[in-house]
Amino acid sequence: MPYIDWMGKDDVKDHHKNIEYKTIECKESIGDIDSQNMIIKGDNLLALKSLLPYYASSVKMIYIDPPYNTGNTSWVYNDNMDSPLIKKWLNDTVNADDLSRSDKWLCMMWPRLKLLRELLKDDGVIFISIDDAEVTHLRMICDEIFGRNNFITSVCWQGLDTIKNDAKYFSNNHEYVLVYAKNKVNAKIKGQKRTNEHNKVYKNHDNDPKGNYLLTPLNAKSGTENGIYTYTFKNNTTWTSPKGTYPRFSKSKLKELEYNNMIYFGKKENTIPQKKTYLCDMDEYIKLTTFWSYKFAGSTRQSNGQLSDILSKGIFQNPKPKKLLEIIINSITSKNDIILDSFAGSGTTAHAVLEQNKEDGGSRKFILIETLDYAKDITAERVKRVIKGYDFIGKDKTTLYEKKLTTSQVLKPETMDKISYEVNKTVEYEKQNYTKIEKTFKENTIKVTGIKDIKTFKDGIGGGFKYCELSHNIFDEFGELNSKLTFDQIAKHIYFVEFKKPVNKKTINAPFVGTYKNQHIYFYEKKFLNKDLKDLLIKHRKTKKEYKQLIIYTAKSTVSNDTLKEKNIIIRYIPYDIKDN
Ligand SMILES: C[S@@+](CC[C@H](N)C(=O)[O-])C[C@H]1O[C@@H](n2cnc3c(N)ncnc32)[C@H](O)[C@@H]1O
Repeated sequence: MPYIDWMGKDDVKDHHKNIEYKTIECKESIGDIDSQNMIIKGDNLLALKSLLPYYASSVKMIYIDPPYNTGNTSWVYNDNMDSPLIKKWLNDTVNADDLSRSDKWLCMMWPRLKLLRELLKDDGVIFISIDDAEVTHLRMICDEIFGRNNFITSVCWQGLDTIKNDAKYFSNNHEYVLVYAKNKVNAKIKGQKRTNEHNKVYKNHDNDPKGNYLLTPLNAKSGTENGIYTYTFKNNTTWTSPKGTYPRFSKSKLKELEYNNMIYFGKKENTIPQKKTYLCDMDEYIKLTTFWSYKFAGSTRQSNGQLSDILSKGIFQNPKPKKLLEIIINSITSKNDIILDSFAGSGTTAHAVLEQNKEDGGSRKFILIETLDYAKDITAERVKRVIKGYDFIGKDKTTLYEKKLTTSQVLKPETMDKISYEVNKTVEYEKQNYTKIEKTFKENTIKVTGIKDIKTFKDGIGGGFKYCELSHNIFDEFGELNSKLTFDQIAKHIYFVEFKKPVNKKTINAPFVGTYKNQHIYFYEKKFLNKDLKDLLIKHRKTKKEYKQLIIYTAKSTVSNDTLKEKNIIIRYIPYDIKDN
């Protein structure tokens, strides 16, 4: 497989292993206090690493919308790879002097993607928004990090709903969403929920008690000559595949379809029989295509408008449409899944998760990370308003008149005169009730809309989250365990270092940390004495807890090696043995 090389790759290749773990301190709770949703302010490199002891292999869906490296520095966040944060990190990590913008971008993305992969569940999927500037590089590093076999697709999203006539060559109207699985064999993309629009093509031509169905021919374009046969149905209709085509089904399958009343013979004698596919037999979901139009997934213009309704106008440029995130969330997650967005921006992902939970009564959890100071005033504020409600100042639109015309009607002057009279009468009658009256003629539909300025309170949709920050390093400047850590924090870290998975317990009572495959971990911070061992063994005997192995984390042990061996006990010394690299 071809690999991409760039300046700085050697320095960042294993960089994710050397990142310090930090504690995540959640100080403020918004809405439901029991909510496990989190918005974390901080550099995602540190935050992702610090999430590992709690969420490794636990996240079902990751969506990221990283800076596209377009060179734009005038946005609310810097998209030029020379923001002070990235500059400092690059200088500390690689020799950044000779690096091109793409080198820097790749150095930034690599360790973050490595950590994101570790957080994904085995059936988890990551969706990454990107445009032409870095899509080629991104695919190459994702192929390397996730494995080429785990590439699912590249969606083309039509984010721009107008034509940019000032473009030099083409009006670029699309972006991509790359989709990779942690393990493609286990990933299940459900698709999108059926809508009335999808179901419209199913009809009932013969009052079939089983309901509406779709008709498909009994022949196909490809097949084999010796597969061709002639079949006579019970009503004496004879069928063979038309010349140059082949039967879609074997003779026995066709017989079975006839037996199950799944053949449509039509009202006239010469109607060619077809197969019925019933709507009631169809899955609740249909496949997503790889092209998402702005009508389907929303456009950037629409999302700018949506965000201005919640916060103030222009506060954050080009958030992603909530619809885009809803499609992604719906396509893969179930009601209890964890969703992560480590380039949170204005918090669209959290908004979409809350909406989805409201719609289907789910309790999906979100974790968002945003490094800039607006994590509080934009990211968290938007989500807070969505939860609790907000003053909405905007326009209320009411359709006052609407008529769809055929082309022949449009061409008939008397019809148009009549419609024009009706439209003018409507405008005259309604104009005192509205601030503005709008007349439009689009796709052969004439429409009159009354527009009013409104100020109302938009109700919150409920839910909650915790606003968190990265706090202490797990180790202090002398390499010792930070004295500010709680037993719970150390225990969770120890368990993760030992088993590479989060401890599956809400409360941890000292000195017992947790167990996995009958290996029990204990943590005796200062020392582990013979007396401690005796107490421990008595406790195990009393509770009849058989063990395969006891693993003791401590700074010092006075138990002899022979006893340890005899009792099948391992001592791991802190701080060295919990420096997980
Ligand atoms: C393209 S915006 C995301 C927009 C978001 N999808 C939305 O709908 O609002 C990228 C965001 O990533 C943030 N970001 C960039 N580098 C980061 C880092 N190292 N850690 C956390 N956030 C970062 C930027 O500050 C910016 O807000």
